[in-house]
Amino acid sequence: MKNNVFHKPVMADEVIGFLRLKKGDKVLDATVGCGGHASLILEKIQPDGLLIAVDLDQKALDISQARLGNFSTICKCVHRNFSDIDEILPGLGVDRIDGALFDLGISSYQIEDSGRGFSFERNGFLDMRMDLAANTCAYDIVNRYSKHDLEAIIRDFGQERYYRKITGFILERRRKSPITSSQELSWVIGRAVGGRYKKQRIHPATRTFQAIRIAVNDELENIDRALVNVVGFLKPKARLCVISFHSLEDRIVKIRFKEFEKSGKGRIITKKPMAPAACEIRENPRARSAKLRVFEGK
Ligand SMILES: C[S@@+](CC[C@H](N)C(=O)[O-])C[C@H]1O[C@@H](n2cnc3c(N)ncnc32)[C@H](O)[C@@H]1O
Repeated sequence: MKNNVFHKPVMADEVIGFLRLKKGDKVLDATVGCGGHASLILEKIQPDGLLIAVDLDQKALDISQARLGNFSTICKCVHRNFSDIDEILPGLGVDRIDGALFDLGISSYQIEDSGRGFSFERNGFLDMRMDLAANTCAYDIVNRYSKHDLEAIIRDFGQERYYRKITGFILERRRKSPITSSQELSWVIGRAVGGRYKKQRIHPATRTFQAIRIAVNDELENIDRALVNVVGFLKPKARLCVISFHSLEDRIVKIRFKEFEKSGKGRIITKKPMAPAACEIRENPRARSAKLRVFEGK
């Protein structure tokens, strides 16, 4: 794997600063990806801590397992959905943790892997599954879902104001033949919105691709379930860090953290979400929409 395909960990200094880890700590990295944050966490907790490294994507797990090989005795890689934390941790004999990280969304590695169909800039089959064993992929949604369901997905998960036009063009196109590739879908969206995106800074397909990816991977429900599950595992003063990349994710984190605080489960550390420093955004433009929220267990 080329170095430039590795995902650069976002807000890594901030995350490591908030987690305040020490030797021997037990930590959950719920989205290990290519192991960027994980390697920094392992440096802090070695030689005898434990990192539970979870990811839905077996290919990403293989990469991080190879990358974190030096720490193999204190790093357990788990191919599961992070919404199952309440089964994963007890299954490993872990009843409490000293810290947890959720770095949501997809990694640069997944975006660059054209066969996965995540990016409208890389041509590939319309897949978008993080878990290659999952039943539904983007092809199914784009070609088989009803007009009503497609409109709802693009409107609600993409916050796309031209959801009706885009759905109409998708339906018209798929009546002739199925839409099979990321570039074909991007082209259909481009035709649907015409010049309407000219003055916007994002590509016309950005919101629709985000919407379909969220639907394929049931992302919002998984985040919500995972937060509810993980908070009960935090030791007193243990920190839970969540990095989100769009407002729908961030809203769930914000609402849950408030609810946890109100019900006496701990306190919110970041009254407002933190954004990456300007120099990080310059070096890694994919960090630009990141928001970090931190909660501390009681
Ligand atoms: C932004 S990347 C994490 C990058 C990682 N922090 C690093 O530094 O390399 C997000 C990862 O979360 C994984 N993921 C997303 N939703 C998940 C879920 N519900 N359960 C487990 N992993 C998930 C994705 O497959 C992806 O590898």
